Amino acid sequence: MAHIACGIDIGGSGVKAALVDLDTGEYIGDQIRIPTPKPATPGAVARVCRELVDRLGVGADVPIGVTFPAPVFNGVIPFMANLDQSWVGTDVNALMSEHLGRGVVPLNDADAAGIAEVAYGAAKDAKGVVVFTTQGTGIGSAIIVDGRLMTNTELGHLELDGHDAEKRASSGQKTLQGLDWAQWAERLQRYYSHLEMLLSPDLFVVGGGVSENADKFMPLLELRTPMIPAKLLNTAGIVGAAYYAANHQD
Ligand code: BGC
Repeated sequence: MAHIACGIDIGGSGVKAALVDLDTGEYIGDQIRIPTPKPATPGAVARVCRELVDRLGVGADVPIGVTFPAPVFNGVIPFMANLDQSWVGTDVNALMSEHLGRGVVPLNDADAAGIAEVAYGAAKDAKGVVVFTTQGTGIGSAIIVDGRLMTNTELGHLELDGHDAEKRASSGQKTLQGLDWAQWAERLQRYYSHLEMLLSPDLFVVGGGVSENADKFMPLLELRTPMIPAKLLNTAGIVGAAYYAANHQD
């Protein structure tokens, strides 16, 4: 495994990239962030990725992982919840090769953050079934079993009480609907007990900015599965993308 890789994290408000030391899971130098272009079409976002790779001076032999806020199945995005709809059906391998002049390893953003937590963070070396969810505009998910990622789970889109779960229980909806911690926790209770019933996990890890306030909502939940906040927070997507790319180059 290479000891340095580059991670690029495509989000709704910013596209961020950094070089990562794979021994420690820490950045080498600074992260660079460019606001997500509007509209966030594939071509516009790929041009931003090119700029980030150029500015970081990523060497030709350094693997690059790129996260997308959507599943990436055989290199293609089958649906897109929270970014421009023109991504649907896009072959991201072809798109990135065209703009970067080299191959990248694409993956889902929550898969990247989840695997980073298992490789370097809150669930380091955890055995059994780890269910990672990341809270934000949507709810992203990753299932890691004995250190191996089951890619492209979309547990944020479970239907719960007739609603798309992330439209009820994401931290983005907490903000949008002005819910207090107790009101939001009621929705989380419903969501995480459902996940618990379906998956019988050994551990829940909750990421996203709101996990910094874990003490405000985790104690309100009654679950038999231990639940802990993520540790890497803002760096998780980039670190996980870099880690995954180094381990999944063809
Ligand atoms: C998307 C997931 C993504 C999550 C977080 C969901 O709406 O469907 O693929 O991981 O948001 O960005």
